[in-house]
Amino acid sequence: MTSKISANRKQQRLNQKLNVEDYHHPKEKTNQLLELEFSKCFNFHKKNVLEIFGGEEGYLTAFYKSRGADVTSLTKSQHKSSFDYVYQLRADRKKFGLIDIDSYGYPDKFFPIVFELMEESCLLIFTFPIVGINCVNGIMQQHFYTFYRGIPTIGDVVGQVTDWGLREWFLAKLVDVKKIKRIYRFVFSCERQKATEFCNVKNR
Ligand SMILES: C[S@@+](CC[C@H](N)C(=O)[O-])C[C@H]1O[C@@H](n2cnc3c(N)ncnc32)[C@H](O)[C@@H]1O
Repeated sequence: MTSKISANRKQQRLNQKLNVEDYHHPKEKTNQLLELEFSKCFNFHKKNVLEIFGGEEGYLTAFYKSRGADVTSLTKSQHKSSFDYVYQLRADRKKFGLIDIDSYGYPDKFFPIVFELMEESCLLIFTFPIVGINCVNGIMQQHFYTFYRGIPTIGDVVGQVTDWGLREWFLAKLVDVKKIKRIYRFVFSCERQKATEFCNVKNR
């Protein structure tokens, strides 16, 4: 049983490495963005976009560029690991109006730092893998406990992102979440808050 699961996992890793479309669902992700444009009047036009885990093929990069956006796409070949490069962007005080985290694994390690890379108003989009309860091994279970205090529901993810955002005085509001096979794509609109107004206190 264990060896069958690990063989599947090895195959999954290989397919991810080979960028097999069925493993990163570029068409479905793009369709969600199109729906947001048409049904919710989202405007991607000329946004300053940061794509974390941009990938060498860059399907989402192509979508954002087709809308006239200025895209900083973090690829392994150009920027090495996105996990490290986000700290370079922070050190350079870079700010973005849309941040898309499209990793294969969990995006948790990019929180709360992504809130420090946001313009006053920013769209936050990220990919979140859905793990079948039977596939949760001990390490993944501990990961979930560390970040979410349990196996997270959609509501748990929303609550946690809201808390992470408020650490940097951003109010994150869920605008869309779409299930695409074994992933969710979450979309939040994030607005910087003035601490005094948010807390209704006066600075003396
Ligand atoms: C889900 S795919 C991204 C697809 C891409 N956003 C697109 O629309 O075509 C994840 C990509 O991140 C790359 N990757 C894996 N580990 C990485 C890392 N540590 N830093 C940056 N990129 C990484 C993978 O090679 C893969 O191309």
